[in-house]
Amino acid sequence: MTEIAPALLKVRGLMKSFGGRLVVDDVSLDVGAGEAVALVGESGSGKSTIARLLARLVEPDAGEVSLEGRNVLEVEPRGPSLNYRSKLQMVFQDPFASLNPLHPVRHHLERPLLRHQRVPKAGLEARALELLTMVGLSPAAEFLDAYPTELSGGQRQRVAIARALAVEPRLLMADEPTSMLDASVRMGVLGVLQSLVKERRLGLLLITHDLATARLLCDRVIVLFGGRIVEDGPAEQILTAPSHPYTRQLLGAIPRGEPRPVPTSTARLPVPAGGEGCHFRSRCSEATTTCRASMPQLTSHADGRRVRCFNRETAHAV
Ligand SMILES: Nc1ncnc2c1ncn2[C@@H]1O[C@H](COP(=O)(O)OP(=O)(O)OP(=O)(O)O)[C@@H](O)[C@H]1O
Ligand SMILES: [Mg+2]
Repeated sequence: MTEIAPALLKVRGLMKSFGGRLVVDDVSLDVGAGEAVALVGESGSGKSTIARLLARLVEPDAGEVSLEGRNVLEVEPRGPSLNYRSKLQMVFQDPFASLNPLHPVRHHLERPLLRHQRVPKAGLEARALELLTMVGLSPAAEFLDAYPTELSGGQRQRVAIARALAVEPRLLMADEPTSMLDASVRMGVLGVLQSLVKERRLGLLLITHDLATARLLCDRVIVLFGGRIVEDGPAEQILTAPSHPYTRQLLGAIPRGEPRPVPTSTARLPVPAGGEGCHFRSRCSEATTTCRASMPQLTSHADGRRVRCFNRETAHAV
């Protein structure tokens, strides 16, 4: 990985297993300020677990997580500080579940502002109004005393984003933030995220099944399979000329034009292979004896991408 400026978020060798099963294996990635990075992969590939590990909702077994140059696992071994939690915020898939129906919008915004001591009490309302305007809810005053049940899905997700922004994070992790929204409001919410990245230099780690969204919004795409990164590089390159056979499978069935969603159900597909060889070999039509004997490394290529495949020296256009 070429590092021009120190990354906002730097992850190295992240590992996590549940009940003896390795779910996140040696994941290394960077997210820069003002950079949007998509994390894609089929259901069960470990996307949400990576986000939860970075938010430290779950503790990793091994690895390094540095935010703004601070190795947080080392300096905050007992759990994340309030400072870390303010710098890295998460937006979840379901805006219905993430807002408390008993409290108005005002409460959801003022609570983090008070807890993280972002503004004096007298300035709470003005800041809440500012946050609502930032996510495109205007006139903001009309939303302040509304209850979540009075809002549409898209409006609720904007409130959830405003709440995440209240503590002035440097990095936003959004786990399928628009997958439960109608297509008509999806673009609006994605537009909010895009403007935060471009105008406020926020880092964005966007977990998505939707490759079209990744292409539209993200500078870089990281493809996960079975808990390991199989390909990582500039979004346009990866989505138009995928290099790893798994990325090609994700994109391959699209006749021409827009990327299609990653399958959400993998019930009928073979599970990632265990043992010595490449974990993708049971699904790969190009697997050789080498692929059955050992696991390929994630190798950096001259075009700026990393690929985990013995057979991939050059990119293949679709
Ligand atoms: N707390 C846990 N205990 C045991 N297994 C877990 C736990 N959390 C996740 N897993 C397992 O880890 C694997 C990865 O799950 P994860 O939720 O990260 O996948 P995902 O890529 O986010 O999938 P989806 O697209 O369906 O959201 C799955 O096999 C899941 O069952
Ligand atoms: Mg998930």
